[in-house]
Amino acid sequence: MQHPSDSGLEPIERASRDELARLQVDRLQQTLQRAYDHVPFYRSQFESFSVHPTDLRELADLARFPFTVKSDLREHYPFGLLAVPRRMLARIHASSGTTGKPTVVGYTARDIEVWAGLVARSMRAAGVQAGDLVHVAYGYGLFTGGLGAHYGAEALGCTVIPMSGGQTEKQVRLISDLRPDAIMVTPSYMLAIADEFERQGLNPRETSLRVGIHGAEPWTESMRHEIEARFDMHAVDIYGLSEVMGPGVASECVETKDGLHVWEDHFYPEIIDPVTGAVLPDGQVGELVFTTLTKEAQPLIRYRTRDLTMLLPGTARTMRRMTRISGRSDDMLIVRGVNVFPTQIEEILLADPRLSAHYVLELRRTGHLDDLVVVAETRAGALDHAADREAAGERIMARIKDLIGVTATVKLVEPGTIERSLGKAKRVIDFRQPQ
Ligand code: DLL
Repeated sequence: MQHPSDSGLEPIERASRDELARLQVDRLQQTLQRAYDHVPFYRSQFESFSVHPTDLRELADLARFPFTVKSDLREHYPFGLLAVPRRMLARIHASSGTTGKPTVVGYTARDIEVWAGLVARSMRAAGVQAGDLVHVAYGYGLFTGGLGAHYGAEALGCTVIPMSGGQTEKQVRLISDLRPDAIMVTPSYMLAIADEFERQGLNPRETSLRVGIHGAEPWTESMRHEIEARFDMHAVDIYGLSEVMGPGVASECVETKDGLHVWEDHFYPEIIDPVTGAVLPDGQVGELVFTTLTKEAQPLIRYRTRDLTMLLPGTARTMRRMTRISGRSDDMLIVRGVNVFPTQIEEILLADPRLSAHYVLELRRTGHLDDLVVVAETRAGALDHAADREAAGERIMARIKDLIGVTATVKLVEPGTIERSLGKAKRVIDFRQPQ
């Protein structure tokens, strides 16, 4: 495996911490003012905290401003948090929310340009260059993965194969025939592609791939080693979330692979104690919070991501690194890259009067892919015949696929089968082996 040179960086990637801090203060002031002037929600939030945009004079002052949480986005669904008229939007993406109502994110043409530039920067950090052939196997559509990667690759001057997710046999064929240099895909699906190569009697180490850029779900160092060994390529981590932008909020450099550099000229990161909300110093694990510094359509102030990580000083770049996401402070599951909240499943189950509120979600791993098994109790006297239970289970499976976008196995069991909890219900049982 070859290490690319780190030439061709943008000047800001080499800026001093002081220079970066000056830019951040300047951009924070503009963002706070913009949010206050154009988004009634932020104006009233700031007023209830007795803060005004002009109160921010240095970075530490940001801690005086209120947090924004996912439910704020949901309550202002779909366009209530826009700082521009709807007709100024060039694109809309969405991610699933806790109640099945998606979280909608709007982008101006300028936002899309900035996003493409940051994905291009992330890809360059991963060792991709202009002229490379890039296979995109993140899903295209409302999910930010496919189009985010696509526009970034184009901005870098690459040739893009917009394959999207699924059709694993075809993924293998295109990788074998077109000979891409890089692939952008979730880490779990990368391993499923490896399995398919082997099933077809092909050696994945013999592909043309030099680097894989993987994210959208938690993964581990051992998974990195497995991907790198099976494909004889580099595997680097890319992070992002739709509310803040999409992929490319932070990304790893191939020469160091020591955590993800947060693109701090566009997103100001903080780590907080998830219980008290207090800001924690670099080097301590807590919940990651972002304030956008340049977003036009939908600026976000101190958005609580629920992702747990810590900030560390920069290495290959001046900008700080975040370590791999170690978990989340809420109950969201990520199954094959799709965000799933237990409450979404609950809603679907409870829409059927023959099913009860006693259910549990089991996560299992078959090969390298996560499987979601929904075990739910029927109500007494309902669905006594096996054939009826099977039909009802199939209906629930189809609803889950339609509404959440994930394939689940549904097992309907007799009343009283599922263990009752004495306090909070334990909805999720994770049978996946820690790696
Ligand atoms: O997953 C954006 C993305 C697409 C990132 C492609 C990277 C590659 P959402 O669907 O809104 O956006 O989900 C965001 O996914 O809060 C994390 O919990 C998780 N996540 C994203 N990247 C990583 C990563 C996209 N590299 C949520 N490691 C986030 C661990 C990740 N978790």
